[in-house]
Amino acid sequence: MEIRTDLYLGDCREILENLPDESVDLIFTSPPYADQRKQTYGGFHPDDYVAWFLPISFQLMRVLKPTGTFVLNIKEKVLNGERSTYVMELILEMRKQQGWLWTEEFIWHKKNCYPGKWPNRFRDSWERLIQFNKRKQFYMNQDAVMVPMGDWSRTRLKNLSETDKMRDESKVGSGFGKNISNWLQRDMAYPTNVLHLATECNNKNHSAAFPEGLPEWFIKLFTKEGDTVLDPFMGSGTTNAVAKRMKRNSIGIEIMTEYYEMVKNELKPSELYLLEQQKGYDTN
Ligand SMILES: C[S@@+](CC[C@H](N)C(=O)[O-])C[C@H]1O[C@@H](n2cnc3c(N)ncnc32)[C@H](O)[C@@H]1O
Repeated sequence: MEIRTDLYLGDCREILENLPDESVDLIFTSPPYADQRKQTYGGFHPDDYVAWFLPISFQLMRVLKPTGTFVLNIKEKVLNGERSTYVMELILEMRKQQGWLWTEEFIWHKKNCYPGKWPNRFRDSWERLIQFNKRKQFYMNQDAVMVPMGDWSRTRLKNLSETDKMRDESKVGSGFGKNISNWLQRDMAYPTNVLHLATECNNKNHSAAFPEGLPEWFIKLFTKEGDTVLDPFMGSGTTNAVAKRMKRNSIGIEIMTEYYEMVKNELKPSELYLLEQQKGYDTN
């Protein structure tokens, strides 16, 4: 199976328009945050963020397969002593205007966050990964991300009463049974929605690069070999590098020539893609 890595230089608002309908299994991306990192790659006032992002999420919905997933890594910053609300507004508008389902929210806990002191808050050591889907039945390989049960079964479970062990918390209305007795003899358990990963910026030539473990976990969970992963804000190409290593096709879009060239040199776009570029298929 030939794995494609298609890289585009340009504004994803335009490039996305040329991607075919329902051709992507997972969109995994971290866009520029509002009013952040102005010096490095632009930025928006929080009040303009939703209007800027909605045409992009419209295209993302079009290119995503009905069984696909969109994971958006974003965190509202503090401006004038208050948390911005643009992420919440974006979620509401994506639901209302475009019909996205807000299916889950994961937390990336940055294990190696630098120490610091602020007058009215503590250091920020987590970011959101907001999961959107087109419909409630989407592809999800939960077994691919199981974790060792650890000491939990020996320590905490040992102290539970027989009644507690038999408790089925599906009664609380979540729809998912978790009768604890089912897990007593197991070595592996399903993970939580909190991911503990260190940032790895120092290893990359980009100020906001993902740690590889982040896209890796979501690619494992939401795709299989031969599927297609899209990162419309590619940066240093972490999503694409990991996708390639995991035998997934990938598409990356980056507006800054410097990053685009860096990723192109590192990842060597697929021959098929280069051929199409020669034929004038490419939009650059
Ligand atoms: C937060 S960074 C992504 C970092 C990436 N996840 C990585 O691991 O390196 C966002 C990237 O989006 C790029 N960008 C900003 N606006 C863009 C646009 N309209 N189209 C495509 N890329 C854009 C920026 O240049 C920046 O490299």
